[in-house]
Amino acid sequence: LKPGREGRGRVVVLGAVNWDVSIFEASFPGPGEEVPVLGVSEGPGGKGANVAVAVARILGPGSVSFVGAVGDDDASRILLSGLEQEGVSTGGVRQVPGSKSGRAYIVVDSRGAKTIHTHFGANDRFGPGDLNEAARDALSSSSVAVVMDLPVEASGAAASMARTAGAEVVYSPGVRAAAGPSGLRRVLGSASVVVVNEAELGRLFPGEGRLRALSRLAEDCPGLAAIETRGPLGCALATEDGSHELDAIDLRSLGLEAVNSTGAGDAFLGAYAAHRLLGLGQRDSVSLAALAGALKATRADTRGSPTKEEMTEAEAKLRKLRQWPRAWRRSRA
Ligand SMILES: Nc1ncnc2c1ncn2[C@@H]1O[C@H](COP(=O)(O)OP(=O)(O)O)[C@@H](O)[C@H]1O
Ligand SMILES: [Mg+2]
Repeated sequence: LKPGREGRGRVVVLGAVNWDVSIFEASFPGPGEEVPVLGVSEGPGGKGANVAVAVARILGPGSVSFVGAVGDDDASRILLSGLEQEGVSTGGVRQVPGSKSGRAYIVVDSRGAKTIHTHFGANDRFGPGDLNEAARDALSSSSVAVVMDLPVEASGAAASMARTAGAEVVYSPGVRAAAGPSGLRRVLGSASVVVVNEAELGRLFPGEGRLRALSRLAEDCPGLAAIETRGPLGCALATEDGSHELDAIDLRSLGLEAVNSTGAGDAFLGAYAAHRLLGLGQRDSVSLAALAGALKATRADTRGSPTKEEMTEAEAKLRKLRQWPRAWRRSRA
């Protein structure tokens, strides 16, 4: 492994931080229907914050800065201390007066299907002018910048700052994908990689075939690589060299079982960014990202991304089973 360049061995993540409330039910209610809730669990979440934690678990404390916004409520203190306990720097977090911290209500049915209802709160109040000195420092001194689901104007300003300073910019718009490729152009123009899940890709290019949509993303922005994550179906990578696909890790062969896929995409992104920082190539970083996503799916906790040691252990087991290194295949489309 090639270590990050001197003084640039850091990752910065800009995105949402939320308080997550997960509600478990036998089946989703229809309009006007009431159903009993079988269980409730709460904890810190938000795509941006989850990715920052995923990076810190792989690269260690002090390797990642988080930039985002919290409200001036009780939740804000728990959200910030949760990040700090994981070794994530929070100097770039803005506390928005008179605003509520973001909250996500995740409803899970007995088959594991889920809907997510997010009140972005303070996250939605983050504009380009809220990039404070710590945030600007982190954006201009990090080797890898992961830009996620804050409002597009702030994401665009941050992405351009990081790109100008020579960082690799990874963009994962989350719900902002609804703005479409033209709405996201400012950010996409500064990104070298865009990462979306199946639902987000559908929102970006409604009605188009998935592989076609993925190649369109890569073709429309020269030099941009596009990654689609497909849950238990694995992932795909589109570049100027065409599209390639990777099957998901077979968890059963490791003696494991998927219990909650919420946050798998965040573990994937964090591991991707961490391994790019360590100097690995794009496909190797995606393979390791897919392993991190798979290991996360075996844990109930949304922020259940693996540590470096857990990754190494799983990789060694897969190697023995001759399932590592992962075999990519060219897409036929
Ligand atoms: N059940 C699973 N088994 C194996 N790998 C999984 C599983 N669920 C997720 N992953 C891995 O994690 C990645 C991200 O998960 P995905 O569900 O696509 O993201 P998101 O959380 O954004 O919806 C997938 O591309 C896949 O590689
Ligand atoms: Mg998913």
